[in-house]
Amino acid sequence: MASSTAGGHCFLLALLLLTSAAYGQLSQNFYTTNCSTLDTIITREVSRVLFTNPPPQGGRRLFADPPPQGGTLIGGSLLRLFFHDCFVQGCDASVLLNEDVKKGKMLSEKQAGPNLNSLRGFEVIDRIKGEVEKACPGVVSCADILALATRAAVVALNGPTWPLLLGRRDSTTANQDEANTDLPSPGSDLDNLIAAFDKKGFNASELVALSGFDDFGSAMKKISELGVLTGSNGQVRANCGRVN
Ligand code: HEM
Repeated sequence: MASSTAGGHCFLLALLLLTSAAYGQLSQNFYTTNCSTLDTIITREVSRVLFTNPPPQGGRRLFADPPPQGGTLIGGSLLRLFFHDCFVQGCDASVLLNEDVKKGKMLSEKQAGPNLNSLRGFEVIDRIKGEVEKACPGVVSCADILALATRAAVVALNGPTWPLLLGRRDSTTANQDEANTDLPSPGSDLDNLIAAFDKKGFNASELVALSGFDDFGSAMKKISELGVLTGSNGQVRANCGRVN
């Protein structure tokens, strides 16, 4: 009896150590020592795109306009890009991957119905990734850059902030089918929208919050933690558009 209790304790201890090791890979300070200029680069690049070179007067038309080169509207585009990444396979930068017909015929999420010709901001993330790679080669994942740039844009536009666990890894796959089924569509009725968010663990109040009416920051924190990859479950892509 005594030995089985001791065995049970050992098992619990091992489980606890394994669990804390997995969580230990993510931290708000993940890049403090190995990429100390990251925050400065993100803030500088996001401000540059938000507050310079605004698109022409008149705004944009649904589904028909080219990606904006700058201006505050791109802040919303980054937020949507991040949301659409996190809702498909988790926040793993899978949405940034280009179609790859050579390597295993991977269909991109970019080409899925809810994203095609309406998801914007890819060039902003590519530019930031380039600047980050110059300062800290091979260290910062595209998933972390997308999460940080989105939060920086929301904050720069006087929105709330939220804590971000960093050290997340990039996926080696994309999932076009999931993008087609799991992203909310403008044709969805309320029941479908509630069901789509419930599938990802969000209740109706959180759906309202994400629609901008209530505690947006807390809802964004929850989105930011969907299906994050750590350690050898993913990689740090050298180029956000393709697997290493
Ligand atoms: C609730 C279900 C939702 C539906 C059906 C929906 C649908 C859409 C559609 C059709 C567009 C227009 C795309 C275009 O410009 O052509 C759009 C834009 C946008 N959505 Fe959503 N969305 C939803 C939820 C959300 C959530 C939760 C967020 C924030 C986390 C969000 C953020 C945005 C932003 C910022 C834009 C403007 C993006 C841009 O101008 O580039 N949406 N959404």
